[in-house]
Amino acid sequence: MGRLSCSVPAKINLHLEVLGKRADGYHELRTLLQSIDLRDELWAESTDGPELSLIVEPEGSAPEGPSNLVLGAAEALRTVAGGRLGARMGLVKRIPAGAGLGGGSGDAAGALVLLSVLWGLNLSEERLAEVAAGLGSDVPFFLRGGLGLGVGRGERILPLPDLEEPLHLAIAWPEVAISTSEVYNRLEAPLTWKSPEGTVEMGASDGIVPAEWTSMRNDLEPVVVDGWPQVAAIRDAMLATEALAVRVTGSGSAVFGVFCSRLEAEMAARHARAAGAKGWHVGRTLPREQARIRAQ
Ligand code: C5P
Repeated sequence: MGRLSCSVPAKINLHLEVLGKRADGYHELRTLLQSIDLRDELWAESTDGPELSLIVEPEGSAPEGPSNLVLGAAEALRTVAGGRLGARMGLVKRIPAGAGLGGGSGDAAGALVLLSVLWGLNLSEERLAEVAAGLGSDVPFFLRGGLGLGVGRGERILPLPDLEEPLHLAIAWPEVAISTSEVYNRLEAPLTWKSPEGTVEMGASDGIVPAEWTSMRNDLEPVVVDGWPQVAAIRDAMLATEALAVRVTGSGSAVFGVFCSRLEAEMAARHARAAGAKGWHVGRTLPREQARIRAQ
């Protein structure tokens, strides 16, 4: 088989509720994940030997060594397949790392999808989701995309119907990348779990229409905003616009605003830039059909 490639869309957390700390050190979550139109590109081609390699563009935007989850995903899949399989892979990074946009997790899911086809593996969706969950809490979401409710440590995904209308978004991030484990370490989460609150949990199987922006939140946001003033500055700039909602995504460092129109989102991105944002994206949420990772 020749070269296969795919696009991997980033995600935002429309809502992230931490219910408490678990015995295994992870945190029990209720989170709403949503695919967006900011994408990395990944390709893979087979090799005669069993080597696995990765090149990343632009150079330095992500590691090319074993700490890159793309190679972690390839190793994990090869172990499951039980063969001496190899692949040459390439990644074009547009999703910033350490920004809470799921770039690394999405790339790992992309590698699982591409290599499953390249290596002719016939794994069930459940098995692939298991391998994905072993790579990181966010990885299983990317195998489905669209809008999903994440429970457990965020790895158990209940796919939800698409939002009725895509949301216009401005997303901006500072120079600084934030480590997820550092944010969770700084969080004072209860050892006795809270019950999930409000609209996100209710009626999830019928889908939710998250029009109630005010009742949604990110429990990690206070930790991120207190600890990283660059994020606070971008959030404050977005709050001074016409945004319907402004929120940190995941454990940061990116902040997104939801807007009535693309024009308003563009204006907010300019505000964020003036407040020190190093990168930004103006776009929208994606329905599942456009968010699914496809090997082609
Ligand atoms: O699952 P993943 O490897 O992406 O998680 C990175 C780190 O974030 C974990 O090592 C843990 O410290 C923290 N985390 C957590 N609770 C979660 C997800 C992640 O404490 N639900």
